[in-house]
Amino acid sequence: MKRMLSGIKPTGQLTLGNYIGALRNFVRYQDDYELYVFIANLHCVTVYQDPKDLRKNLKDAIALYLACGLDPERCTIFLQSDVLPHAQLGFLMTCQSYMGELNRMTQFKEKTANKEESITAGLYVYPSLMAADILLYDADYVPVGDDQKQHVELARDLAQRFNNRYGETFVLPEPVIQKVGARIMSLSDPSKKMSKSDETNKGCIYLLDDINLAKKKIMSAVTDMVGCVNYNKELQPGISNLLEIMSSLSGEPIEHIVERYQGKGYGEFKKEVAEVVGAELQKIQDRYNEIVRSDLLERTLREGAEKAGRIAYKKLKKVQKRMGIDIF
Ligand code: TYM
Repeated sequence: MKRMLSGIKPTGQLTLGNYIGALRNFVRYQDDYELYVFIANLHCVTVYQDPKDLRKNLKDAIALYLACGLDPERCTIFLQSDVLPHAQLGFLMTCQSYMGELNRMTQFKEKTANKEESITAGLYVYPSLMAADILLYDADYVPVGDDQKQHVELARDLAQRFNNRYGETFVLPEPVIQKVGARIMSLSDPSKKMSKSDETNKGCIYLLDDINLAKKKIMSAVTDMVGCVNYNKELQPGISNLLEIMSSLSGEPIEHIVERYQGKGYGEFKKEVAEVVGAELQKIQDRYNEIVRSDLLERTLREGAEKAGRIAYKKLKKVQKRMGIDIF
């Protein structure tokens, strides 16, 4: 069975973008692959986090993994910092990464644009840590949203470089990106990605949002003056985004939805999207409420760290031997 690995960095509450672009797909893959999913809590602190908020976001994220359908019996769920080799291999991968490569990372450029101060060195070497996360487990596939593709490609380049220098050690990972829903856009500005750090809060739906509030956000999503439901990301980015959201959640192909709405207005269309999103959130939140009251979270993480740790320590040892760091 091929191995698959992915992670989410809960620097805020998980969003509908995380769900459609990543989490929902992990759930689908858990029977067909040996799946490892983790909470990237070391990545979180590359930017300052209030410890109280971080603890809550991490706990919620694990509960949401389970509520969305990840089953600890069928996949391995763990907290990155519970498996120490992530940080260790992270450093070793930093030593394989060239500054020119890291300078080219789009996400780093976007996050640091117009900011001279308070950019941590951790944020800069974040892609090297992410490479370590992937390479530690010899993951064949890494399901991610579009914005993480470049980071997975860097992991592949670093693996290749390491193998050339020290001999076959790492599997070369491949990103797995959905055709529909790989980049869910902000509802208030469809030229931007829907993101946890949305300042206005209007453009982003959180998985734990009040259902009526989430529906309202859909109803007030920015559209256009064309007045006809079409899938055209350039001319009608807002409507196209809503189509992707609806198609991802309902499974109905975009062309069918477009056809059903010929001759109808945006209001009616938005109402159906809002209903579909509301129903999905309700399902997730009902399960979330049961899970947070149980002892499942602690148990899942304990067992997950043990399972992941067994693979990670062995791999780290092999890497260090290859590099000449370990003597015996
Ligand atoms: P993060 O936490 O930013 O996002 C988690 C996953 O959600 C996807 N995603 C989206 N997909 C579609 N539309 C959106 N608007 C949207 N926003 C986020 C992301 O592409 C991602 O798949 N660096 C990673 C976490 C990470 C990781 C890893 C992932 C750390 N180590 C190893 C894979 C493998 C991150 O910050 O994701």
